[in-house]
Order: sequence, then structure tokens, then C-alpha cells
Amino acid sequence: MPATGARPAGAADEAGAALAVRQMFDSIAPRYDLLNHLLSANVDRLWWRKAARRFQQILARPEASVLDICCGTGDLTLALLKLRPRGAQPVFAVDFAPAMLRRGAQRFGPPEFRKPWKRPPSPEAPYAIPLEADALHLPLRSESLDLIVTAFGFRNLANYEAGLKEYHRALKPGGQLGILEFGEPGGLLGRAYALYFRRVLPAIGRMVIGKDGPYNYLPSSVGDFPPPGEMLEMLQRAGFVECAWQPYTFGIAGLYTAARPTVV
Ligand SMILES: C[S@@+](CC[C@H](N)C(=O)[O-])C[C@H]1O[C@@H](n2cnc3c(N)ncnc32)[C@H](O)[C@@H]1O
Repeated sequence: MPATGARPAGAADEAGAALAVRQMFDSIAPRYDLLNHLLSANVDRLWWRKAARRFQQILARPEASVLDICCGTGDLTLALLKLRPRGAQPVFAVDFAPAMLRRGAQRFGPPEFRKPWKRPPSPEAPYAIPLEADALHLPLRSESLDLIVTAFGFRNLANYEAGLKEYHRALKPGGQLGILEFGEPGGLLGRAYALYFRRVLPAIGRMVIGKDGPYNYLPSSVGDFPPPGEMLEMLQRAGFVECAWQPYTFGIAGLYTAARPTVV
């Protein structure tokens, strides 16, 4: 049966899965950035930038209303902000793990959220508004957003179809969706990568954070995640059009893109 949502070990239902995911990210927040860049040899930075560039036409419009869901410590949010003009509407940045969001807000938030030495150079500099909320219940009006993007968060939702339905609700007709997620490349490279991802990465994760769970969850959640064909069908069932998937770095990651139809 196709996966309906993330199920960390021990979670019996959707509420249990969401709680386990939130607690896990809160517990690894202090080491999250370090481990991310270490384990991906900084390739993740290219993925965030490339995903943001895909939407540069929308981001260049100062009035465009943009949301980064599952923003975590804010790397994608920062990549989006780089493409916003001075004086643009703030981006919304949502996450349900307060420790992750707090770290993010210190990097991308309004000046008063930031460390003095990380304050933006001018009051016109684009920033994001941090919102602590569940991606399945966004505190945003229906049909209010021009763009929703999310990086490496969608896979963690307790119910994928409910997540897509919520994104569809919040997007304006014609609004765009981008979901950056890990994949599982095939062939010889895929086998070598699987060895790294399933054996080496959890061992490094365990050394750095001193416990087993989170970096075992990462490869198992990627293994359980629907492959591109299934994800594209799910997007279409949720009412999206122009659904596509672009592999990044041989399919280790990839960007799903879709749009809410202009005429319903
Ligand atoms: C792997 S991190 C990715 C963070 C960031 N987007 C990045 O690319 O580094 C996943 C984030 O999704 C958040 N998350 C997972 N499920 C969520 C949900 N249902 N609602 C809001 N945030 C969620 C977690 O708290 C975590 O910060």
C-alpha cells in the first residue's frame, strides 16, 4: 500500500507521528546545520539556491506573497530572500519545531529577532516572518499565496495528501508550488549512495548527536517516501496541474513543481 505519511518508529497514528517528528527536530536543532553541511559535503546549498532560482520570476515581484513551509533553520528561506527586491513583502516561514524555528528566525527574521551582528544592512532589506504552525493547518487565508516552497520537510508530514490539500487551499489560483525532497538514485551510483546513506550517514549522525534515532529515521523515511511517479499522481489528485519533477545531482534530491489551476 502506498505511504500516506511519515511514521517514525513507535508512532501509532498521525498525531503520534507529528509529535515524534517535532520532538526529534527540536532535539537535533543545535547540531542540525553542522550535520547537514557535513553529510552533504555542502551540496545542499546548491540545491536550495537552484530551487529558489526556479521561482525567481515570482520572487522578483515585490508584492508576491511567498511561504516557506517546514523552514527549519532557514537555508531555503535565505535563498528565497536573496531573490527578493528591496522593500518586498516579507516571506512567511513556517515550522512546528520551536527550537528549529528560533534558530531560523535569528537568521532570516525581522531585525529585532537577529543577533546584533546579523542585522540587515538597511530597513529595506527583505526578511521573513517566522510562524510556529503545523503544515497541515496553516494559519493563512485561503487563496492568499503566490508561491509555496518547502525543502526536505514534506517527507516528514504525517499525512501527505492532507498536506497537498492544505497547500492547494492556501495558494491563489495560478499560484506555484515547489517541493524539494530527497530521492533514491538507481544504478551503480544508487547502490554506492545507498551504502553511504544507510550505513555511513547514521554512524556519523550518531557520533555528532550522541544518539541513534534521528539519523536512522532519515534514510528510512526517504526509503518509505513515494517515488517521483507516485508523487506526481498524488499532486494531480490534489488538484494541481503542470506537475513535474526535476532530479538534482543524479536524483539524490529533486524538485517537484506544480500549479493551482487558474480556472477551477
Ligand atoms: C529536514 S528539516 C528541513 C529544514 C529546512 N527546510 C532545510 O531545508 O534545511 C524538516 C523541518 O520540517 C519541520 N516539519 C516537519 N513536519 C512539519 C509539520 N507538519 N509542520 C511544520 N513543520 C514541520 C521540522 O520541524 C523540521 O524543521
